[in-house]
This record gives sequence, structure tokens and C-alpha cells, in this order.
Amino acid sequence: MEHQRRSKISDLLKSKEYGKEVLVKGWVRTRRGNKNVNFIALNDGSVVHHIQVVAEVANFDENLLKLVTTGSCLAVKGVLVESQGQGQNVEIQAREIEVYGSADAETYPLQKKGHTLEFLREIAHLRPRTNTFGAVLRIRHAMAYAIHKYFNDQGFFYIHAPIITGSDAEGAGAMFRVTTLDAGNPPRLPGGEIDYAQDFFGKETNLTVSGQLEAELAAMALSLVYTFGPTFRAENSNTPRHLAEFWMIEPEMAFYDINDNMDLAEEFLKYLMQYALDHCYDDLEFLNKMYDNELIDRLKGVIGSSFERLTYTKAVEILMASGQTWEYPVSWGADLQAEHERYLVEKHFGKPVILTDYPKDIKAFYMKQNTDGKTVRGMDVLFPKIGEIIGGSQREENLDALMNRIHEMNIPEKDVWWYLDTRKFGTTPHAGFGLGFERLILFVTGMANIRDVIPFPRTPKNAEF
Ligand code: 4AD
Ligand code: MG
Repeated sequence: MEHQRRSKISDLLKSKEYGKEVLVKGWVRTRRGNKNVNFIALNDGSVVHHIQVVAEVANFDENLLKLVTTGSCLAVKGVLVESQGQGQNVEIQAREIEVYGSADAETYPLQKKGHTLEFLREIAHLRPRTNTFGAVLRIRHAMAYAIHKYFNDQGFFYIHAPIITGSDAEGAGAMFRVTTLDAGNPPRLPGGEIDYAQDFFGKETNLTVSGQLEAELAAMALSLVYTFGPTFRAENSNTPRHLAEFWMIEPEMAFYDINDNMDLAEEFLKYLMQYALDHCYDDLEFLNKMYDNELIDRLKGVIGSSFERLTYTKAVEILMASGQTWEYPVSWGADLQAEHERYLVEKHFGKPVILTDYPKDIKAFYMKQNTDGKTVRGMDVLFPKIGEIIGGSQREENLDALMNRIHEMNIPEKDVWWYLDTRKFGTTPHAGFGLGFERLILFVTGMANIRDVIPFPRTPKNAEF
């Protein structure tokens, strides 16, 4: 086949250049037809829709057409013509077909439509070839781009937080250790403990659970910053909303208090929903039709609503007065579960909710302490179908208050001396939050399980691919 520039199917489907000779390349979704003519649905991932390739059987070698199976990869040269068929404007009258790679009909796993999402997880290496994952992956890309665009336009600087750290930002205690010591025979101290001084970094290290502490350091110089990177949690939570490896966006702003922080979180989320509607409409329409017919309305609903803001204490009162029976009982001081969060959002208020002023004992050491001695200036943004999508807070900028909290929580000062230094030298009120990227993608795609919005999910007992 003579060289020519490849057209993207997304461009051709919008084109009106009938009669033009074009070259397309992609993967065959279906081939049907009769002894005279074959119809090949070709997809190159640029858009959810396929382009129809029409091949007159008489013009092609019989053995070549046999290789055009579901899943095979082709280059097709032909003429773009107006389509008589329903549901498409254009099709390609094939003149030349080159088969790059056939796919054996007996063993190619994506033969039929309508495989379950559970089955597709087992073939995560091939599921990008389905309409569903094509749509999810394009939306995921668009959201990542929109996040950078939003912050760049607002004058924020992108900071790269380290992946390997010696600190435990959230104090959650569920971290993946990073070591080069021989697991079977590690060096030991006279008392029997493992001698991490001999490890690669000369100390204990782990994969980061959050880039926040490093983002705070940068905010104390650049004022407005954000991180966007992978984070890791070794919690054994097998839920549709938890991953062991997920991506998090963490803006951190000097001179912001908790109200500024909430305003930013709300504006940012609405911007992202609007961006999806403006740039991913074909994919959203597809997902709306196939999985969740309230998806587009829900996105518009969020954009049009003003998020309800109330304290944790008030929320607990509402939950206790609700007359609902809960799997996890509600009482002041206990962490809220997804069932409680979703009740507030979906049943009680009917819109996104921001809860503030949580009990200090269920939140991390860095949150700004209120004068009541019991609560901290944390804020969680709760979304329909998701529950917590954002967690954040105003930070404790006062050195003495922070030191007290660190001692109360038995955090060794030597682990966080560098963090404490920011409170010694030019401290200032500041605030920030973390948006779970996959929770955002769950919401924007309407998918029900977080394993279906990241290409290769890492969950307990699963690190295939
Ligand atoms: O509430 P989290 O734990 O907050 C922090 O990590 C703070 N350092 C953020 C900050 O203030 N800069 O996590 C933030 C968000 C959650 O609201 C949730 O969306 C997501 O990260 N998240 C997870 N997403 C998927 N799988 C998990 N295991 C998650 N844990 C948290
Ligand atoms: Mg949280």
C-alpha cells in the first residue's frame, strides 16, 4: 500500500469531503455481509463510533477477507462516500485492504457484545478495545488535562511530590514498605529488630499515601501549588470505591482559610463537570445510554447546585433524627460511612454536601484546631453515588498547637522536623484538599466500580498486568 497520511475516524465522521481518497487504520469490531459485499465496522479509538467500511467481495482476494475477523487490525484505503445506512453520515468504499494482524475467532476473547464488567477485568489488557473502556479512558484523559488547565489558568504551579518517602502524612498506618533488604534474611540489630540503617536509604521508607506535606512546603514559597500523582494505601478495603494505588490531586494554598478552600473545591469540581460536558459529550451519551441514564442529568445537577455546607456535628444530628437503620451506628465522634454520606447527599439535601469541623480524633495531625478543643477545621466534599470525593482542611499553622498535637498522637518529632520548620520560619494560614482522581472519574462516567475507571487496578490480591 502506497504511503499516505492516516485519517482519524473521529475526523472522518465529521467530514463532508465526499469522493476524497482516505486511509484509515484500526481494529475490526464486526464484519457482516453476504457473498457480494462485506460491511466492516472499524474503530481506531479516536471516538466511540466506528466507521463502516464497505468491501465488494469481487474486488478482494477471498483469503484476505477471511483474515478480517473481529479484533483484527487493518489499514484500509478507499473513497469517503455519503452513507445510505442509518446512524452514520459517511462510510468508506474500500479499494485496498492490508491486514496488519488477524485475530483468531476461536481464541479472541472479545467476540460478542455485552461481556460483563467482571469478565472484562480479567482481560484488562484487551478491554481498552471495548466501547465502554474507550469512553472511560478518553474521559479520564480529558479530566487529567482539564485539571492541569484549570490550575494553570488560576496561577497555580504543578509540584512533583516524591513517590518514595520516609513520612506517613495521613497517620493511617497502612503503607507499602520500600526496601532492598533480603526479605528472607534481613540484617538485624543485636535485639533482633531489622536494621534499616543498612537499607537502601539508610532508614525505613514507604510509598507515599499523599503529597500534601511536600505540597505545603512548596505553598510556603510559591503560594498556590498543586500535586497530581499516584498515591498508595495498603488498607485491606475491598470496596467499589477503594484502590491500593490511586491518583490524587492536591492543591495547597497559602493565605486561604477553610471557606476559601471550600469555594475553590466547589468551583473546581463544577469546572471539571462542565469540561466533560463540553469535550466528551459523545462518550457521556454512550455511557448514559448503556449504564446510567441519569448520568448527564446528574452532571448538570452538580453544576447547577450550590453545595450544602454544614458541620459534622449538625450532620450527626440529622442522621440520628433520620429514623434510618444503619449498618454502622451513628454517634458523635465516630467516622461517617458511605451509607451516612450518601443519605445526606441523596436523600436529605439532594445535592453535594461539604461537611466541616470534624472531631479531631478521627482526623490527621495537621488540621487546624478549633477553640472548642474537640474539633478541627477539616472539610469533606460528599457527592451523590460516591460519598467522599474530596478530603481537605485548613492547616494548623501555629507551631505550639501543632507540637502539642504531634505529641498527643505520638508522632516522632524527628520524622517531621522539616514540616515543623515551616511553622518556625514565616508561618501563615493556609489550606488545601485532596481530590481522588478515580472517584472523580467514577462520578463523571457513571461507572459503579472504581476498578473500571483505571486501566490496571491494584486491589488486595490483585496486581495482574
Ligand atoms: O481524605 P484523604 O485521605 O486526604 C488526604 O490524603 C489529604 N492529604 C488530602 C489533602 O488535604 N491534601 O484522601 C483524599 C481523597 C479522598 O477524598 C478520596 O477521594 C481519595 O482521596 N481516596 C481514595 N481513592 C481511591 N482509593 C482509596 N483507597 C482512597 N483513599 C482516598
Ligand atoms: Mg478522607
